[in-house]
Amino acid sequence: MYKILLRQDLVPNIHLFKIEAPAVAKKAQPGQFLIVRIDEKGERIPLTVADWDEAEGSVTVVFMEVGTTTRRLATLRAGDSLADFVGPLGKPTEVEKFGTVCCVAGGVGVAPVVPIARALRSHGNKVISILGARSKNLLFWEDELRSVSDQLIVTTDDGSYGRKGLVTEPLKELLEGDEKIDRVIAIGPSIMMKFCAKTTEPFGVKTIVSLNPIMVDGTGMCGCCRVSVGGVTKFTCVDGPDFDGHEVDWDLLLARQRTYLEEEKRSLELWQHQCGEHT
Ligand SMILES: Cc1cc2nc3c(=O)[nH]c(=O)nc-3n(C[C@H](O)[C@H](O)[C@H](O)COP(=O)(O)OP(=O)(O)OC[C@H]3O[C@@H](n4cnc5c(N)ncnc54)[C@H](O)[C@@H]3O)c2cc1C
Ligand code: FES
Repeated sequence: MYKILLRQDLVPNIHLFKIEAPAVAKKAQPGQFLIVRIDEKGERIPLTVADWDEAEGSVTVVFMEVGTTTRRLATLRAGDSLADFVGPLGKPTEVEKFGTVCCVAGGVGVAPVVPIARALRSHGNKVISILGARSKNLLFWEDELRSVSDQLIVTTDDGSYGRKGLVTEPLKELLEGDEKIDRVIAIGPSIMMKFCAKTTEPFGVKTIVSLNPIMVDGTGMCGCCRVSVGGVTKFTCVDGPDFDGHEVDWDLLLARQRTYLEEEKRSLELWQHQCGEHT
């Protein structure tokens, strides 16, 4: 069992858990993920490593409530335990000295971006970060991202904080500017990553995205997480989750993410009914 050492509610529907998992903490690297299961009958879900502390033997994950499992997860408190916390899985994000790297984080995507930006900076890169959210009340970890960036631009879709608009607008301006951008890393909702990749493509700047298809085992056995990259079928869990955003078949990814919408809806209704909730 993996004990929850700390729970923080970052914004109303996004929570942080620090989990006691010494073996994972020893090996975790930026960009890797875990397969989490609440109890023995629970669904397996992938969550990215947001932080880790080898000395303490802890690993931090940040998750957004979207469906049954993430809502069930949000009912847990410090002191509760998870049945499974398997990882670190997937390939770590490629980190070397590229020059100037622009890290774009959308919504809950800021959690995986922070350790990546920190690692990039420690390798001598200049890091310019863009943090976007729909609204001010959904923004979190602004200070954490600022502390690992040379420059931070914040946007909200509704203009309630920072610059009004989407993350792609300052990204395009940076690419058009005098400073050469050597690489872009974009993590967030698929649609945001798709449009970041579309923005950088005409400039020929390599753009790494972290794909989030539906996963089951996370170890290359079920084929559930397959995506098409450069016309070749890849398994996100073992070949990724990072891929070249210019080569991803985004329409296929977005369509596959919707495969089980009906079942996900029914599962949530059933769980809410069992909990005595009414929607
Ligand atoms: C490698 C990887 C790392 C991830 N890391 C994180 C993380 O650090 N924090 C976090 O909050 N989420 C992360 N996700 C997404 C997370 O796994 C899903 O949100 C979760 O599995 C949804 O489970 P559910 O039962 O709550 O919702 P479901 O009932 O399965 O789905 C509810 C809604 O969420 C959508 N959804 C389902 N799965 C995904 C997905 N993979 N990506 C986007 N939308 C999805 C569905 O289309 C549906 O609209 C990651 C996904 C992958 C593949
Ligand atoms: S999640 Fe099963 S092969 Fe990737």
